[in-house]
Amino acid sequence: MANHKLLLLPGDGIGPEVMAEVKRLIDWLNAQGIAHFETEQGLVGGSAYDAHGVGITDDTMERAKAADAVIFGAVGGPKWDSVPYEARPEAGLLRLRKDLGLFANLRPAVVYPALAGASSLKPELIEGLDIMIVRELTGGVYFGEPKTITDLGNGQKRAIDTQVYDTYEIERIARVAFDLARKRRNKLTSMEKRNVMKSGVLWNEVVTQVHAREYKDVTLEHQLADSGGMNLVKSPKQFDVIVTDNLFGDMLSDIAAMLTGSLGMLPSASLGEIDAKTKKRRSLFEPVHGSAPDIAGKGFANPIAMLASFGMALRYSFEMGALADRLDAAIAAVLAKGLRTADIKSEGATVASTSQMGEAILRELQALYA
Ligand SMILES: NC(=O)c1ccc[n+]([C@@H]2O[C@H](COP(=O)([O-])OP(=O)(O)OC[C@H]3O[C@@H](n4cnc5c(N)ncnc54)[C@H](O)[C@@H]3O)[C@@H](O)[C@H]2O)c1
Repeated sequence: MANHKLLLLPGDGIGPEVMAEVKRLIDWLNAQGIAHFETEQGLVGGSAYDAHGVGITDDTMERAKAADAVIFGAVGGPKWDSVPYEARPEAGLLRLRKDLGLFANLRPAVVYPALAGASSLKPELIEGLDIMIVRELTGGVYFGEPKTITDLGNGQKRAIDTQVYDTYEIERIARVAFDLARKRRNKLTSMEKRNVMKSGVLWNEVVTQVHAREYKDVTLEHQLADSGGMNLVKSPKQFDVIVTDNLFGDMLSDIAAMLTGSLGMLPSASLGEIDAKTKKRRSLFEPVHGSAPDIAGKGFANPIAMLASFGMALRYSFEMGALADRLDAAIAAVLAKGLRTADIKSEGATVASTSQMGEAILRELQALYA
């Protein structure tokens, strides 16, 4: 069985608490011989700053590059609010994304049957929802130059951000999205604003060309990003995979995520290029939530987003889709039995701590392997 190298970076706040549940799962998978993971642990964020004065050290970066996948908890907290800008906790995560070249951000929005009532939308609109937003992560208006504020000298200032995309950036994110669609329900919706933005015209053109050249078997549709946003809340089940740029993806993925309920439930993956030599793709998996300083150290953080992020690593880095399916089934089964962490508790539910939830999910998984 292949040996996979993981770098675990728990980070700050609830990061180490939820990472402990992933560690428990990995230990069991190794002990059963279901998988073989070699794990190393490192510091990132505020904990790295306390030990080394930076958000991540060069040594940890080298270990991240050498790993088959990075499993990341969360960083930040009020303790580090006044540290120098370049050494702030988030700088550790941003460096990981940049130096690993993680250009594709995958955010699934899945509604577990037992939680359909927790959404702000009517249950019938979101029951069985399973969509994937693919957001371009390293280009577009957040990084384009010039990016300035100029004093015009007449009491006015001018702020400029630049939206810029090259063909290759659109091609590679489109390929990630088409490949995902092929493994799902074979439909891709591309969103941009070609009616008012040149970058939208090019985005539309390039996605259409990639489709015609390489992915004719996948159904491709285009929507303007604003009406796409409307459709996400009006009839979200029409979508399978959505691909969009950095700015629109930032907003649309948050909208899609909230269709499903709590922050404690949302996983994500960030993928880079496939290495020509090793054929491996650089990757980092992290929950969408932050370090939740308000509940850190109390032992009642929801570990599901973290566990489901590890599930995405199984699926997208290690071709262990069947195991990932079983992990998802175990999470759904625990929720169906009424166990809830405090953030998702409902009337009549049993409230579990972080470790009780982690243990219950592992027990369900064990039953699926019995
Ligand atoms: N990727 C990251 O590491 C990341 C992302 C977002 C925010 N942050 C940082 O985290 C810190 C706190 O930020 P915030 O409060 O805006 O966002 P947050 O996601 O940490 O918390 C928002 C709210 O959701 C709750 N929550 C989050 N995750 C939960 C979980 N797993 N279980 C139960 N409840 C959960 C929190 O208790 C809080 O009430 C800040 O320093 C921020 O910069 C880091």
